[in-house]
Amino acid sequence: MSPKSSHFPSDDSDYLSGFANNFSSESIPGALPKAQNSPLLCPLGLYAEQISGTSFTAPRKLNQRSWLYRIKPSVTHEPFKPRVPKHEKLVSEFSQVNSAINPTQIRWKPVDVPDEPTDFVDGLYSVCGAGSSFLRHGFAIHMYTANKSMDNCAFCNADGDFLIVPQIGRLWITTECGKLQVCPGEVVVLPQGFRFSVDLPDGPSRGYVAEIFGTHFQLPDLGPIGANGLASARDFLVPKASFEKESRPGYTIIQKFGGELFTAKQDFSPFNVVAWHGNYVPYKYNLSKFCPYNTVLVDHGDPSINTVLTAPTDKPGVALLDFVIFPPRWLVAEHTFRPPYYHRNCMSEFMGLIHGGYEAKADGFLPGGASLHSCMTPHGPDTKTYEATIAQGNDAGPHRIRDTMAFMFESCLMPRICPWALESPYVDHDYYQCWIGLKSHFVDNTENTGLQNHERSNTES
Ligand SMILES: [Fe+2]
Repeated sequence: MSPKSSHFPSDDSDYLSGFANNFSSESIPGALPKAQNSPLLCPLGLYAEQISGTSFTAPRKLNQRSWLYRIKPSVTHEPFKPRVPKHEKLVSEFSQVNSAINPTQIRWKPVDVPDEPTDFVDGLYSVCGAGSSFLRHGFAIHMYTANKSMDNCAFCNADGDFLIVPQIGRLWITTECGKLQVCPGEVVVLPQGFRFSVDLPDGPSRGYVAEIFGTHFQLPDLGPIGANGLASARDFLVPKASFEKESRPGYTIIQKFGGELFTAKQDFSPFNVVAWHGNYVPYKYNLSKFCPYNTVLVDHGDPSINTVLTAPTDKPGVALLDFVIFPPRWLVAEHTFRPPYYHRNCMSEFMGLIHGGYEAKADGFLPGGASLHSCMTPHGPDTKTYEATIAQGNDAGPHRIRDTMAFMFESCLMPRICPWALESPYVDHDYYQCWIGLKSHFVDNTENTGLQNHERSNTES
């Protein structure tokens, strides 16, 4: 293991905990100013810098900002220039010019990690999305395949928040608030504007990214569930302040701005924050801590019961993007078709699989793969799953789903699909076949009673 590992905390106690708290952290005692945010001279000669994640006048319950106390302020850099080479596969404003629509169910096989050296930024590519980062309403779904750490550079996404779901390989993420180790099975949120760099201690790495424009993730309301359950606020972990003070000649800030990359040079690390306080922070969450609720008598609950985080729209109950998981759990429903029901949805559903299998697909939906079922496109269990479930009959008994972690990004917006994703060699062109074998089990019990003819004659009269 690299000597850098000691800098990336692996124990929960190495983090602050909570969701949407007002946190504070100082890596040197006394580095945080007392009783005010911006004194004439900050302790230890630091610069005060605010990062605003919401407009100044956002309602208090939604307002997010943090104060960073740093060795040099972020503004100390040369002008931004378009990055050379361009990144051709990042989209932040989906239109007829750069993306297509297709209502067909689409499934992708897992994409291979490239052999050539590729870091997180170059390995990131948009798959689909809707809306516009410019208009502050929309989302993008990306995936990444990478194999090397970012070197002497940091990434900053001015367009939106990233929710990263690693599937292969740990992420060692250095942020302005401190360091996070994120393993497959955990997720991390990097809010709009934070600078971060990604090291890949395990080499070949792959994962999924949801990006949201113009809002932030919240914990879902629990309604009749009560005060506890699903993702608990205390299980969200926030890094503690740590800083680099050494000179870093030629250090590059890579800024994603309107889906395009720009670079600016500076001679120091952006991770020079000695202390900080606020409620606008990067955070991670271990999906194994999720407390699932489920049906205990009949029928399959709607997947919203497994919402980890939601990015709301202005319409009550309508999500710009929900992050929903399908974790290990007991299935106990009686005389019930237990897998997900056949479905057409006004929302659009993008699914991924972190490990194991998914209960509605016996074959073909593989870890690292993905599927997209767009607005009102039918979907549901494949033929094999349907027939196997029916064969079990009504006396299936309690059954524990083990070794699985599937997830869904669900949005009220209709996604457009990037051309490289539609034309990808990893598209599973036989996906539709998994339903073609569904046969009619219809038993027409009216044939011998004459009831059908009776109804027809009523209609005609
Ligand atoms: Fe669905």
